[in-house]
Amino acid sequence: MDAKTAAKATGTITVGNKNWEFPVYKGSIGPDVLDIAKLYGESGLFTYDPGFTSTASCESKITYIDGDEGVLLYRGYPIEQLAEHGDFLETCYLLLYGELPTPSQKADFDYRVTRHTMVHEQMSRFFQGFRRDAHPMAVMTGSIGALSAFYHDSTDIADPTQRMIASLRMIAKVPTLAAMAYKYSIGQPFVYPKNDLDYAANFLHMCYAVPTEDYKVNPVLARAMDRIFILHADHEQNASTSTVRLAGSSGANPFACIAAGCACLWGPAHGGANEAALNMLAEIGSVDRIPEFVKRAKDKNDSYRLMGFGHRVYKNYDPRAKIMQKTCHEVLAELGIKDDPLLDVAMELERIALSDEYFIEKKLYPNIDFYSGITLKAMGFPTTMFTVLFAVARTVGWIAQWKEMIEDPKQKIGRPRQLYTGATPRDYTPISRRK
Ligand code: CMC
Repeated sequence: MDAKTAAKATGTITVGNKNWEFPVYKGSIGPDVLDIAKLYGESGLFTYDPGFTSTASCESKITYIDGDEGVLLYRGYPIEQLAEHGDFLETCYLLLYGELPTPSQKADFDYRVTRHTMVHEQMSRFFQGFRRDAHPMAVMTGSIGALSAFYHDSTDIADPTQRMIASLRMIAKVPTLAAMAYKYSIGQPFVYPKNDLDYAANFLHMCYAVPTEDYKVNPVLARAMDRIFILHADHEQNASTSTVRLAGSSGANPFACIAAGCACLWGPAHGGANEAALNMLAEIGSVDRIPEFVKRAKDKNDSYRLMGFGHRVYKNYDPRAKIMQKTCHEVLAELGIKDDPLLDVAMELERIALSDEYFIEKKLYPNIDFYSGITLKAMGFPTTMFTVLFAVARTVGWIAQWKEMIEDPKQKIGRPRQLYTGATPRDYTPISRRK
């Protein structure tokens, strides 16, 4: 149902002795919203909400989060059920089209994605231009952006067929680029996709196979990889998704928009947190040093934070973190890892944070990045690849959100306003008269 048809109530904004009335819309679940789009026109006032903590930037039917209850739904389906019973490409179909696929739709979708997994051969020469020690996220941001230079025939956003081809291309090619970024960073030859493997197994094969010997993908690790992709596939209007929508609102091509999302994801407060969380565990190093770091995190005069704890929306246990914790233990058991000092630090840190008054009062629970970092390290990925894997998974969410925005008739260019606190008008002074 369109939100506007559900407008039942109004809300009043009062400033001084003036009142303005605005419609209140009800979503299917979640908080109502007050539509203040006409506020400036009617009152000359802007709203001020740095960080958008109280602002719904769009109407969406894709993902729902209840941060207080720890709920995450993709198109209405709980993340726990999708992670338990589904696979990543089924999740992609669901996010893009709104419904779970029938068996024939699933087979067709898998086939179409699989047929787009190779990248233009010239891309491998493009890669040679990066420094060999470049961060793989720098390589990802650059190479995803470069896709628009290789696939002109799917950059017309007004054409629904081109939009769909661009979407499939990105879901299929981003893992190939990610594996190439990894191979490039360690100086190994690129491995072509193998289309008889499923999405996650193919990705692991591209990362870990070498031309000199056979590589058999471990099914437990492939399942864990697939689950990590499902858990990260979409997350409502987070910073990188909002970046994709804002970039797309100007009519920029989809490859450029996803590259913008990728750049945003890299930040340590967002997708970079899994890398930062593992670096933090390494810095702490041993269980006896934990109190010192917890003390710093609690000190108001110290900007230090425990990476992998807290979330802007979840003020309860992140439902993805619970599944990730289970997957983490499955992977460690499969690989026979028992005595990893980082794991000891992680488990003790989790125990302290869940029982410490500071973390309880501020509702700072371990988030998904806390466990995904440990899991990915056990699977053999260097920390610099962690955010890259997040980008592989989130690509479908970015695309689904971008498509929804482009197909929304109410869509207009995003253009926030500001509270200006700079200089008031003043006259230019010639340089000879400046002291
Ligand atoms: N360690 C210690 N204190 C913290 C932490 C932390 N990790 N996170 C928040 N706080 C404190 C913060 O100092 C503040 O205290 P006070 O009220 O006394 O000023 C209070 O908790 C609220 O923090 P905030 O910064 O206002 O909360 P936010 O909603 O803006 O921040 C966050 C959310 C995720 C950026 C933040 O919790 C954080 O920096 N966490 C560490 C980085 C991290 O793990 N990020 C991954 C997020 S999950 C992946 C994703 O979806 O991208």
